[in-house]
Amino acid sequence: MVEMTSIQGQTHTRQGSSIGQPLTRMDGVLKVTGAARYAADHHPAGMLYAVMAVSSIARGRVASLDVAAAMAHPGVVQVMTPGNAPKLAEDPDAKTNPFMFRMDLLQNDGVRYPNQPIAVVIADTLESATEGAALLAPAYVTEPARVGLDGNASFAPPAVGVGNPAEMHRGDVDAGLKGAALRMDATYETPAQYHNPMEPHAIVATWDGDTLSIDTPSQGLAMAQGRLAGLFGIAPEGIHIRSPFLGGGFGCKGLLSGPQVLGVMAARLVDRPVKLVLRREQMYGPVGHRAPTRQTVRLGAASDGALTAVSHHAKTASSTFDDFFEPAADTAHTVYASPAIATSHEAVRLDTGTPLFMRAPGEATGSIAMESAIDEMAHACGMDPLAFRLKNYSDVEPISGKPFSSKALRECYAQGAARFGWATRPLAPRQMRDEAGLLVGWGMGTATFPALMFQGHARAVLRSDGTGVMETGAHDMGQGAWTALAQIAADGLGLEQDQVEFRAGSSDLPDAGIAGGSAHTATAGMAIHGAGADVIAKLADLAMDDQRSPLFGAGNTGVIARSGRLHRRDDEGRSESYGDILARAGLTEIEGRGASASDPAAQSAYAMHAHGAVFAEVKVDPEFGQIRVTRLVGAFAAGKIINPRMVQSQYYGGMIWGVSFALHEEALTDRRSGRIMNQNLAEYHVPVNADIPSVEAILVEEHDPHVNALGIKGVGEIGITGTAGAIANAVWHATGIRVREFPITLDRLMG
Ligand code: MOS
Repeated sequence: MVEMTSIQGQTHTRQGSSIGQPLTRMDGVLKVTGAARYAADHHPAGMLYAVMAVSSIARGRVASLDVAAAMAHPGVVQVMTPGNAPKLAEDPDAKTNPFMFRMDLLQNDGVRYPNQPIAVVIADTLESATEGAALLAPAYVTEPARVGLDGNASFAPPAVGVGNPAEMHRGDVDAGLKGAALRMDATYETPAQYHNPMEPHAIVATWDGDTLSIDTPSQGLAMAQGRLAGLFGIAPEGIHIRSPFLGGGFGCKGLLSGPQVLGVMAARLVDRPVKLVLRREQMYGPVGHRAPTRQTVRLGAASDGALTAVSHHAKTASSTFDDFFEPAADTAHTVYASPAIATSHEAVRLDTGTPLFMRAPGEATGSIAMESAIDEMAHACGMDPLAFRLKNYSDVEPISGKPFSSKALRECYAQGAARFGWATRPLAPRQMRDEAGLLVGWGMGTATFPALMFQGHARAVLRSDGTGVMETGAHDMGQGAWTALAQIAADGLGLEQDQVEFRAGSSDLPDAGIAGGSAHTATAGMAIHGAGADVIAKLADLAMDDQRSPLFGAGNTGVIARSGRLHRRDDEGRSESYGDILARAGLTEIEGRGASASDPAAQSAYAMHAHGAVFAEVKVDPEFGQIRVTRLVGAFAAGKIINPRMVQSQYYGGMIWGVSFALHEEALTDRRSGRIMNQNLAEYHVPVNADIPSVEAILVEEHDPHVNALGIKGVGEIGITGTAGAIANAVWHATGIRVREFPITLDRLMG
């Protein structure tokens, strides 16, 4: 494989030997041996333990806390309350961009959601701090909690997600519905979900004057650094955040959260290093969640199955004090061709923690409704669900009319269907049984997720000993980002993998943007690619200007960087090692810089999305309604695949989350108190090994010349889209029963 990059007017061709290899995780051995140190594994000298007390009401204020009782407990050093909490340089409710999370930082006694921090107890030991927090015995002035999607007045939000318009349309949906031979109108509900990474939010914070040293998991180091700088009124450069390993993120570690800031405030208050780790139940409130949705999809189709109108309306919820709205209706923009499309959102404000992006925010919830509705319409038209999707295949982005930068969805459908054996599926439901008499059903769903890229930076160094360094403040949530990015680094530097030292996960490295929106490999990867190109160009300049170099005068034809040597492109036999070039120039090392930024011209010319198709088999007990997913096949096209092993694993993870969404996950709110009743990993159900059948992910080849120079789309979130809908459709196909309320539990299926 050959990569072409154009640098400063010259073309450098190089052999890419690492990109595309199924390398195992660079940090795998560290993790399985326990050598990887996560945030909470740090114990600086003199460190104290902080434990949050959180509200047991949803709305009101704290009337009293028994601080004396907590202070009297052995080992308790300090109790941080609104009475003594450090004042902040910035209002934690102030917000100058959508990537800021409003926070409750003990600046007043108000309570605006359950599990809101109301005090922090700081002690010699975790046990003392925990007991001290229990002794606070808060009393409240309680106001009635506004819960549920009908729990407050509804309004149209000004924007959804991180800034999309709440309403969009193309064509005349009413006319399209009126003129349709067949119409369907159905409402689907999805519950609140909580991220639940294995590693809860945790922070170890140490102040030294006005500088701050922190270990905490983060999907966005530079943004977290900037947020802390604003809140504490100190220079960002004085804040060092280390986040080499995350025990999962899924979006809830994308923006700095209140509890992390409380850890920093506690350290300031006692002037000692402090560790604060959230208990599992404390994850259900102050660090984000996926809001519930109620979505109405209306479709019109001509008698041949061609859609005449697509209308997708989503109702969702946010907190009373912040404005993240799950953009559930927006999936209707991207997938199915229709002369008329309309999407809209309405929302309610509830006494809940603010929702936040959670893996495929909008697409995960939206695709579950749309893929169910499409399946219902296919049946109404008497068509096979795959044939119906192909009938309504769109070669341009439906809402904008833009061509796709690439779209291998047909191939995804074809390869997934072939692998699954879809062709023998009976059209009517309730036709298949296994040898044990269980009902068998097959369903499918289309997967889609935007191919995004943010701004990122990287720094590259080539050293005279023939090794290289690549630095970028990238994040690895466990998905293998470090490995994939190190592969891009090796190719960018023209070195073997083991000659490259890859540094990431620290805020003193160049800002790599946020690890979110499935954009991290593209964002950090393109910055790395650029830094590699920059340093190679500088090295080439040194050699080509030097008469003693075999590369002298190669300027117009360029050079190839490979295995630590530059070769003349017009005569590959003439080459020189990086070390020799640097030595002759009297240098021990040479540095290059790179930055990524999406290309506005390409953005306005093309719609950029990854695509996929998921096929599911379920078995349902006809008497008891027990549902098991027995087979999942996904086929995905996401541009250039940097590391097929990591990518396959991302798809598995996404599809497994799809199983979770379809059948398991649901945060249950007590309507009287507004509290979440199942805020633990015993009762908040996620699939375990026994719930997960054979899962296959097919990597469909796709070349995208427009998304970025490497052709990278994202793979982190697309797997969850499509899968839950496919399972819901398979449950219908097995039983003839359409459940429109998720998760599809026994009672909903039997009821
Ligand atoms: Mo993701 S929800 O963009 O971490």
